[in-house]
Amino acid sequence: MVANIQEKSLYLPKLAKMTKKERFTDKEMFFEFRFDDGSNLNHRPGQFVELSIYGIGEAPISISSSPTQQGYFELCVRSVGRVTSYLHNNLNVGDYVGIRGPFGNGFPFEKFKGHDMLFICGGLGVAPLRSLINYTLDKTKRGDFGKVYILYGCKNNQEWLYQKEVEGWKNRADVETYLTVDKCTDSNWKGNVGVITTLIPKVNFDVNKTIAVICGPPIMYKFVVLELKNRNFKEENIYMSLERRMKCGVGKCGHCQINSVYVCQSGPVFDLPTVRKLQEAI
Ligand SMILES: Cc1cc2nc3c(=O)[nH]c(=O)nc-3n(C[C@H](O)[C@H](O)[C@H](O)COP(=O)(O)OP(=O)(O)OC[C@H]3O[C@@H](n4cnc5c(N)ncnc54)[C@H](O)[C@@H]3O)c2cc1C
Ligand code: FES
Repeated sequence: MVANIQEKSLYLPKLAKMTKKERFTDKEMFFEFRFDDGSNLNHRPGQFVELSIYGIGEAPISISSSPTQQGYFELCVRSVGRVTSYLHNNLNVGDYVGIRGPFGNGFPFEKFKGHDMLFICGGLGVAPLRSLINYTLDKTKRGDFGKVYILYGCKNNQEWLYQKEVEGWKNRADVETYLTVDKCTDSNWKGNVGVITTLIPKVNFDVNKTIAVICGPPIMYKFVVLELKNRNFKEENIYMSLERRMKCGVGKCGHCQINSVYVCQSGPVFDLPTVRKLQEAI
């Protein structure tokens, strides 16, 4: 009976009210949600929720806020299809969505304690990594980690997500932030031009005590890993968040399956040695 109730709750969305909505770019918007009973998601950085809109559908979305932020949670959503475009165009502050989760394993941040952290974010990949970045930088957790390096790249100067917050990271004395755009389409941009791998040689990290965490478009992983390997990075210190097509989010439908692994349950976060065993994972 207890097992039945727990199982059922995996499929039962809980209503959350939209309390903030902000446009970042043509395609991406920021959303803050709260549960009416004031409860927290109790997530780990790197986990995701299944967001549903009644009569429209459901989509997996990474939780972008740190669990150290209580009473609300934040998502950054790119409009690509039914659910995401409905959320962008038809729902506003005060409207409700359904939330299942948090699901997935999240980052093993306990293992990261005492290490320097190198975050490598490509495009929308900054959304899940922001949860871990802000966790690491939270004043209650900052002492658990050493140096923090943030590498963030996007296509052009109009595509930045969390722009104000990125400025904040740049201004912090305890963080080294490196930005790049793939193409310079704007004379106001005075920073690095080139894909994100061009930033890696600029960073003076210590491979013996640094953990690298990568999230971005699928094409990025292979080249970032090659560049880290060129710098003698240990494979077991490289972590990545993988996105597969997902439906249920709870290991039932098989949509996310790679061999015998359900990415929605065993992932989406994996270390590189594990990824190497998953065929066609990157
Ligand atoms: C673990 C995880 C975390 C994610 N985090 C985020 C996030 O933080 N922000 C965000 O904007 N998106 C995120 N996504 C992608 C997001 O789930 C899809 O964009 C969304 O499901 C599309 O739903 P839709 O109904 O709007 O589009 P649909 O109408 O279903 O499809 C529109 C287009 O998107 C493609 N598509 C559909 N589902 C997926 C999927 N799961 N992954 C990739 N492409 C898909 C379809 O092939 C089609 O081309 C995440 C996906 C996963 C698996
Ligand atoms: S999404 Fe259904 S099994 Fe993973």
